[in-house]
Amino acid sequence: MMSENKTMYYHDYLELDKILDSQHPESGRKGNEPAHDEMLFIIIHQAYELWFKQILFELDFIMGVFKKNIIDDNSEDLNLVRHRMNRILKIFELLTKQITLLNTMTPLDFLEFRNLLVPASGFQSLQFRLIEARLGLRMENRYNKDYYKRTNEGGFDREDFEKINKLEEDTNLLFLINKWLERMPFFENELWKNYQINSPADSSLHIFWSDYRQLYKIGLNPREAGRINDFDYIFLETKNLPADQLPPKPMFSPKAMRAALFIMLYRDFPVFQTSYQILDSLIEIDNELSNWRHKHMDMVRRMIGLRAGTGNTVGRAYLEGTLYSHYIFKDIAGLSTFLIQRNKLPKLPAELIRSLSYNN
Ligand code: HEM
Repeated sequence: MMSENKTMYYHDYLELDKILDSQHPESGRKGNEPAHDEMLFIIIHQAYELWFKQILFELDFIMGVFKKNIIDDNSEDLNLVRHRMNRILKIFELLTKQITLLNTMTPLDFLEFRNLLVPASGFQSLQFRLIEARLGLRMENRYNKDYYKRTNEGGFDREDFEKINKLEEDTNLLFLINKWLERMPFFENELWKNYQINSPADSSLHIFWSDYRQLYKIGLNPREAGRINDFDYIFLETKNLPADQLPPKPMFSPKAMRAALFIMLYRDFPVFQTSYQILDSLIEIDNELSNWRHKHMDMVRRMIGLRAGTGNTVGRAYLEGTLYSHYIFKDIAGLSTFLIQRNKLPKLPAELIRSLSYNN
């Protein structure tokens, strides 16, 4: 049988026929007045959606690794996770920078075609919602959740709405990271046989946490003394105060929080480096998303002032609400509250360091 030996051609490989034939400004349709900047508006949104696709692709890989029951530290898995998380961060940086390009369109340029878009809006970007849901933003933690979850004008269409609901019930990165942290074998008793204790032990706690709690407590200045109650609640599940005086319940379990704090404390040891960098990337993802929300919100203020968004929300006020309430990994960022000085850190037993060269 003869095989057709066709050489690869740039245009075909990239399917440019489809991509470059996908910009059709509404203002260019018969009966409408052409608006020059609508082309830029469309291309920017399309570029965003392509990058969202790449972010979702990387997230799929990352979640695939964390879904494994055993992650072999000596395999390439965690290093690839770290590397691809970093790629996601670079994409977010780029997406934020693109707003400066959008700002070359003036509010008057936008007004030339804005009404033709109503009620469509970036609010309806399915891929953006999938990114949020896959990272772990839960419905109950959304700003103005009744407003968000809707299918009326300016909301999601039925099909997208169902996809978002389904995905929110599915597992997410936050949940998988929680499980990964819970599996960390740091505190198995036989690894602590030769630990040099620094203060009188509280027998109800693991020897390390008994010591660390004491070190943390004596390091607090009088104004911060109450933080020990937060420490007890977040890491040890002990409620010293009435419920309304306790800090918000973390999204991570106490066991996972203990492992995360331990990694943060001993990050300078090579055995903790990859895990530390993964946790740090989670904080960075939140920061990058927040940078984007902030820049987008400022651009919106400049572009439409106090008018309602085309998606019919209260525009800037809605975006401001999402900016402050949509941090996903704030518990990890919040670990800094519970660190102590490096030179006061308890010395780790050699058995522990040795054993960590293996799986977790
Ligand atoms: C002239 C440019 C833009 C204006 C005036 C604008 C305005 C708005 C407004 C007012 C909202 C709130 C929802 C609504 O009522 O519509 C919104 C939401 C949103 N926009 Fe834009 N936008 C612009 C460009 C973009 C671009 C280029 C993207 C990239 C995909 C984008 C993505 C989003 C997303 C994802 C949301 C939902 C945010 C959330 O719910 O947290 N927007 N936009």
